[in-house]
Amino acid sequence: MRSIKMVDLQAQYARLSSEIDQAMKQVLIQVDFIQGSAVKALESALAERYQVKHVISCANGTDALQLAFMALDLPKGSEVITPAFSYAALAEVLLLLDLKPVFVEVNPATYLMEVSAVESLITANTRAIAPVHLYGQMVSMEPLLALAKQHNLFIVEDAAQAIGSQYCTPGEHGFAGTMGHIGTTSFFPSKNLGCFGDGGAIFTNDDDLAQRLRSMANHGQTVKYQHDVLGLNSRLDTLQAAVLMAKLPHLYEFEKSRRAVAARYDEAFGPMDVLEVPSRTVDSSHVFHQYTITCKTAPMRDALKLYLSEQGIPSMIYYPRPLFLQTAYQQVVSLPISEDLCTRVLSLPICPELDVEQQDYIINNIQNFIQKSQ
Ligand SMILES: Cc1ncc(COP(=O)(O)O)c(C=O)c1O
Repeated sequence: MRSIKMVDLQAQYARLSSEIDQAMKQVLIQVDFIQGSAVKALESALAERYQVKHVISCANGTDALQLAFMALDLPKGSEVITPAFSYAALAEVLLLLDLKPVFVEVNPATYLMEVSAVESLITANTRAIAPVHLYGQMVSMEPLLALAKQHNLFIVEDAAQAIGSQYCTPGEHGFAGTMGHIGTTSFFPSKNLGCFGDGGAIFTNDDDLAQRLRSMANHGQTVKYQHDVLGLNSRLDTLQAAVLMAKLPHLYEFEKSRRAVAARYDEAFGPMDVLEVPSRTVDSSHVFHQYTITCKTAPMRDALKLYLSEQGIPSMIYYPRPLFLQTAYQQVVSLPISEDLCTRVLSLPICPELDVEQQDYIINNIQNFIQKSQ
C-alpha cells in the first residue's frame, strides 16, 4: 500500500504530469511570466465556469481577502461579522486594515456560520458580513443575502475551501464565491484546485469593484506607472496559472472522487455513536475539501489522532483554537460551540488519489480504535 497523505500531491502530479509539464513548458517558451496569457485564460475559464462577470487572480487567498476589503474602502473601525471557528486569514486581514472582526457562532453539525446568530450582532458600525464556506460546503446564503440587503451591508464570501460548491435553493443559486458582492478563493497546493505554490482569485459581478480590485492587485495602477489608489504587488504567476489551467478540466472528476471517499466514510462511521460524520446542508453541494468528524469527547479525539498516527495515518485538527482565543486576534466573547468544536474535530485524509485499499485501511483502523476503547 502507498503511504497515506492528507492530500497526495505526488500521486496527483504523477497522473497529470504530461499535461502540467506541457502547460508549464509553454510559459517557459513564451517567457510571459508576469500577467501572461495563461493568467488571462484562467480568469476567463473560471468566469465562464462559475458564471461570474469578473475574476481577478492574485498572489494568494489571504491577499484576495485583503484586496476585497481594500476595494470596499470601509471606514476605519467598521465591524465585519465573521465566524470564530475558521482559518485565521479573515481576522488577520480585517485587523491589518483597521477593521473589527465581530465573531459569530457556528452550527455544531455543519460547522458553518450560524446565520440566525448574525442579526443580533449588527450594530450601527457594522458594514459587512464575511461568511466562510468551510470544509467544502456553503453557508446558508439566501437568508444572509436578505439580511445584508435589509441592513445595507456588504457580503464578502471566503470560498477558499469550497471552489465549485453550488448553492441551489428555489430562491437563490450560484457557485461559492459568486453570490455576495465579492468572493475570494485560494489555490494553495492542497486546495481542491491547487497550484504549485501560492495563488488566489477574487470574484465579483460589480464592474466598479472589479476595476478597483484589478488595479489594487497591481500596485494600484490603471495605466503603467500611473498609481491612482494604494495597492499591492499581488499577481498570480503565469506558471501557476498554467498549472491551474492544466488541472481545471479535472476538477469535476476530483470532486466526484472526493464525494465517493466521503460516502464510504459516512457508511462506515455513520452508525457509530461515539463520533459524528459531517452533516450536509440542504442548500449547497459539498466538494469535500475536508472530511471532518466530531468525536464524542476531547480525550477521545486526541487518542484517536495519536492512534491513527501510530498506524501511519495522518489526520489534522482544523482548527485547534477559535479565533477569539488566538493571541493576535484576542477578544472577550463567549462562543462555546466554536470553543468546544476545536477540542473534538478531526479531519481525515481525503483526496482524489486515496485508493480503496487506503480507504479500507483508514476505516478498519478507526473501527479497531473504537472497538478497543469501548
Ligand atoms: C478558509 C480560508 N481562507 C483563506 C485562506 C488563505 O488562503 P492562502 O493560504 O492562499 O493565503 C485559507 C487557506 O488555507 C482558508 O482555508
